[in-house]
Parts: sequence; structure tokens; C-alpha cells
Amino acid sequence: MSPTRREFIRTASATAAGLALAGGASAQTTSPNERLGVGCIGCGGRMGAHMGIVKALQNEGFPVEIVAVSDIYTPRIEAAAKNTGGKPYRDHRELLADPRVDVVCIASPDRHHGPQAIDAVLAGKDVLVEKPLVHWSQFDVVKRLTKLVEDKGAVLQCGTQYAADSVWRQARQLIKDGAIGKPIFAQCGYFRQGDWGERGMPILDPNAKPGPDLNWEAFLGDGPKRDFSVSRFFRWRMYLDYAGGPPTDLYPHFFTPMAIALDCKFPTRVSAGGGKLFYNHEREVPDTVNIVADYPEGYTVAILGTQVNARGMETCVRGSEATLCFSGPGIQLFSADGKAEPIREVPREKPGDAREMWVNFLECVKSREKPWSDCRTQYYVQTAINMGELSLFEGKTAHFDAERERIVI
Ligand SMILES: NC(=O)c1ccc[n+]([C@@H]2O[C@H](COP(=O)([O-])OP(=O)(O)OC[C@H]3O[C@@H](n4cnc5c(N)ncnc54)[C@H](O)[C@@H]3O)[C@@H](O)[C@H]2O)c1
Repeated sequence: MSPTRREFIRTASATAAGLALAGGASAQTTSPNERLGVGCIGCGGRMGAHMGIVKALQNEGFPVEIVAVSDIYTPRIEAAAKNTGGKPYRDHRELLADPRVDVVCIASPDRHHGPQAIDAVLAGKDVLVEKPLVHWSQFDVVKRLTKLVEDKGAVLQCGTQYAADSVWRQARQLIKDGAIGKPIFAQCGYFRQGDWGERGMPILDPNAKPGPDLNWEAFLGDGPKRDFSVSRFFRWRMYLDYAGGPPTDLYPHFFTPMAIALDCKFPTRVSAGGGKLFYNHEREVPDTVNIVADYPEGYTVAILGTQVNARGMETCVRGSEATLCFSGPGIQLFSADGKAEPIREVPREKPGDAREMWVNFLECVKSREKPWSDCRTQYYVQTAINMGELSLFEGKTAHFDAERERIVI
């Protein structure tokens, strides 16, 4: 696509996006040629939600349209093509070569996110990619991807939809303005009850075989070579080759916005405890992981959680002068001496969800600004998470060599 056409599409996109946000868009504001073509890579459970959002935005008058779909499992490709009208591809690289695709949405298993985002950026596409940005073993991939995104000026939004809530950016400003004094200790986490495996991820077809049904080599990607296993294919979240348990699957949701609020960069050291404490079957990934990350600015962040018990905990940042909690009308500030009554309340300016995350992405595709959950923010988030996983698996503290940008353990 020529720069002129791309710019035209982007201008049309943002104009209609702005109109739609103001409640004034109609489908007539654009012609089919003006629509931003979306290519969907990895058309399983999560992609269904993305497809629904894109279709809803299109119905509201946003100039977006799903034009291509890609998966490595035949029934999924067929269903996705039927549901969206997108052209089906068995290989994401063929989808990336389709000139009708302007942006891609990636919702394949974790270890494909980074490599497929790299392929997409190299093909000149902007990217909305699911969390985690990379698998826990792929620090080098997230480092390479971040450099590429920044060198090419690509727009990359990571699918951490809670970051769309305005409270985190409001908190960032309050903390910058000195509302809590010096940040000392922040806590966030994710608590839920429920295993992955038989209940969470059913084997859709016990007789599925590599060949016409699915591409096993593409599923393995850059991971360890293994003989075909129907359980690994359908229930990949249970295995360390493809997933990492709560730190990679769940913690990006609340640690990303906390990192935005605190303006976290690379940690100095990270340690973690926990393990496979309850769900004791063939599942390899931990069910409970508590990560403590220390930052060079002199504060520490606890990222805590379990999949065994859904009772949550307070999300807050404790400072030398006050505590900032994500509670009440949005944000509540309490004095550092622990008194129960808030000293200040700040209402939430705007709630946010996955739809708002898409709108923010489309606006950034036009403006070339950084989206809320941009690649560099995710690089910092993923570094702490990967260090936490490595610390847990190796029983050691992980250190970060900031000069060489590498994890040392
Ligand atoms: N943001 C959220 O709230 C949220 C919710 C659920 C899942 N997710 C994320 O979305 C991703 C997908 O999760 P899911 O629950 O949809 O899993 P899923 O197994 O339902 O879907 C994954 C799809 O990717 C396909 N696939 C596998 N390897 C591929 C490859 N190399 N290229 C293209 N397609 C490939 C599979 O065939 C499958 O159809 C995960 O990384 C997960 O963390 C995010």
C-alpha cells in the first residue's frame, strides 16, 4: 500500500472513530474501500471476543472490517471465515502478504505472539496483540520486538483491557504530582478459582491429527520439538512449553496498569514463590505465584495471586505521605498513618474495557501516538514477569543487567 493510501485510510478511520465516539457516526460516512482491513491470527476463544468488537465498531460506523482470518486448525479457520467473511489462510505469513490487511489482531497461544507481531511489523502492519506479549522464556523476543516497533514507528497495543480504565492514568498523574510522597510499596494481583485442563480447556476433537486437521509444526513454533499430543494442542495452557500459569496468563491484566500508574521501567531484581500447590494432575504450570519486584527508584511491587481461591485483595500504592487505592469512586487517598477515612477521593473520568482498547488502538493507528498498553510498557512488564517465572522455576533471585538489557540468574 502506498503511504498516501495508508494515510487516507488512517485519516478516514480516525475521523469516523471520532464521530462515533461523539455518537454521530453512521455507516454512510465511509465507503468499503476506506475501511481499515483487519487480519485475525489465531481464531480460538479470545478471537471471538475481538471479532465481536470489530463487528460492533463497524456497525457503529467505524471504518473497520475483518478482511482475513488465519489459524492452523481447520475447523477454526472454516468457522472464522464463515462468521466474518474474511479470507481464510492457513499460514499467518500469507495473511500478512494480503494487501487488504492493514492491521492485525493476534490471539494465538502465548509463544506465537512475539514472533507473529515481529512478522506483522516487518510486513508494515500495526498490531493489536493479546497478552502476554511473549512467552515466559522469550525475553530476547520481546527485546527484539520493542526495538523493531520503535525503529519502524509501528503502533502496537497489547490486549490488557483493564489498562483502558482511566483511573490508572489519573493515578499516574497524581503520583507524579506528589500526592502520595515517595512511592514505596505497591500491590496488585489476580485471584480466581478454577483449573485449566479438562474443565477450562476441553479437547474439542480427541481424534484430531496433524495433516489436514492441523499444523503441529506451526503450533510448536520456536518451542521444543515434541511428538503430537492432542492434549498439548487443545489444552496448551497446562504446559510450560506454551504457557506459564498466572504470571503470564493473568498478571499482565493488573500489573500493566500498575506499571502505567507507577511509570515502572526495568526492575533491579525479582524473586518469586509459589508453585503447583493444589491442582495436582498432569498440569505443569503453577497455580499460585507471588512475585516481588524491586525498582531502581527505590520502591517495590508485589504481584500476587492464585487460581485456587477467588478472594481478592486491595490494589494500592503506599507512599511516604499517603496510600493511593483503586477503590470508592475511582481513586481514594488515605493518610500514611493508616487512618480508615480517606483524605481525598478522585472520581473515575472514564471506565474502559476491551472495546475502548480497540478504539484507542484505531485512534493511534491514525495519530501514530502510543496506545495505552504500548510495546515499551509491555517490555518493562514482561521483563518483571519473566524474571518472576525464572526465579520461581530456578529457586533463585533474578537480577537485571540494565546496561546490557538482559536478565541474569
Ligand atoms: N485479554 C483477555 O482477557 C484474554 C482472555 C482469554 C485469552 N487471552 C489470550 O488470548 C490468547 C488465546 O487464548 P484462547 O483462550 O483464545 O486460546 P484458544 O486455544 O481458544 O485459541 C488459540 C487459537 O490459536 C490457534 N493457533 C495455535 N497456534 C497457532 C499459530 N502458530 N498460528 C495461528 N494460530 C494458531 C489455535 O488453533 C486456536 O484456534 C492467549 O494468549 C491468551 O492469553 C486473553
